[in-house]
Amino acid sequence: MPSAFAPGKCILFGEHAVVFGHPAVAVAIDQGVRVSVEVSDKWKLEGSSFEPSRHPHISHIIQNIFQYTGPPLDIDVDSSLFSAAGMGSSAALSNAFGAAMYAYLNPGEKLDAVMLAKMAHSAEASAQKGRASPTDTATSALGGCVVVSGRAVPGTRHVFDTSLKTPEGSRKWAINVVDIPPRIGDAWLVIGYSGTGSPTGRMVAKVAKLISEVPDMMEEMEAIANVTRAGLVALSAGNLEGLGMAMDACHDSLRKLKVSNNKLDRMVSAARLHSLGAKLTGAGGGGCMVALTHEPTMVSEAIEVAGGVPLSTRLGAEGVRFL
Ligand code: MEV
Repeated sequence: MPSAFAPGKCILFGEHAVVFGHPAVAVAIDQGVRVSVEVSDKWKLEGSSFEPSRHPHISHIIQNIFQYTGPPLDIDVDSSLFSAAGMGSSAALSNAFGAAMYAYLNPGEKLDAVMLAKMAHSAEASAQKGRASPTDTATSALGGCVVVSGRAVPGTRHVFDTSLKTPEGSRKWAINVVDIPPRIGDAWLVIGYSGTGSPTGRMVAKVAKLISEVPDMMEEMEAIANVTRAGLVALSAGNLEGLGMAMDACHDSLRKLKVSNNKLDRMVSAARLHSLGAKLTGAGGGGCMVALTHEPTMVSEAIEVAGGVPLSTRLGAEGVRFL
């Protein structure tokens, strides 16, 4: 049975600003989504009847990418990610489903992570009213640490370029990767789920509305971009303390963009007692925060006390793969 696994992601810096062409830095995490496909007498998803309108990513991949007209499929999904929570669950689902479909239609052929990343990005964009950066999909496809930016980023290796027409205009991104130094790889990320999801499309639209009403807020995007550049320098140099400080600063800017909430702020404050830095991660408005630490157990306990659900991972897991 063709099956594939794609990891989730955690954005260290640059969420929201990346939709406007600024850089973002994300790492693949240990948790992710496994998908397998099997020919069946009718279309099924996780044992129930498949409703294309309720699963826009999957329908986009079946109809628009593969233009599949073969027999119905039974699609089995097994996820260790919280959904609509900033962990890239829809990107991981798109990548894993795309890879499983590719294996089903092209048995024995090699997996092309760049092709998958582009395909999953178009699925995200079609599901998010044309507003989606390639951050989640590229990180899940390539694995490791991915830097997404409107232009080349010094100190990174360029992998591919991609573009998209959004309601706010055309966007172009360069997808780059950076090696994670051993000192950073020894640390842990503890991700804390706030208990409520928040669809990325809605949060991205909320930020777009805020900026159209208060154009000065665009300065906050610049602030996030500066913090992202500083954080990337710290990461590349193996400077954990600098990396943590940049995460703290990124959270402050995201609060000003009104994408944090009380629960996320409480979890971030609780985690900071045993962390090098902490921030919300992903679209915000619910979803998750993340802390960088050498003490994952203490941070997990602090997150639980603040009412969140913790999950620990190393930084920079392997990207999408056939199983
Ligand atoms: C979502 O994980 C991150 C955002 O920047 C949206 C995007 O990049 O498409 C909020």
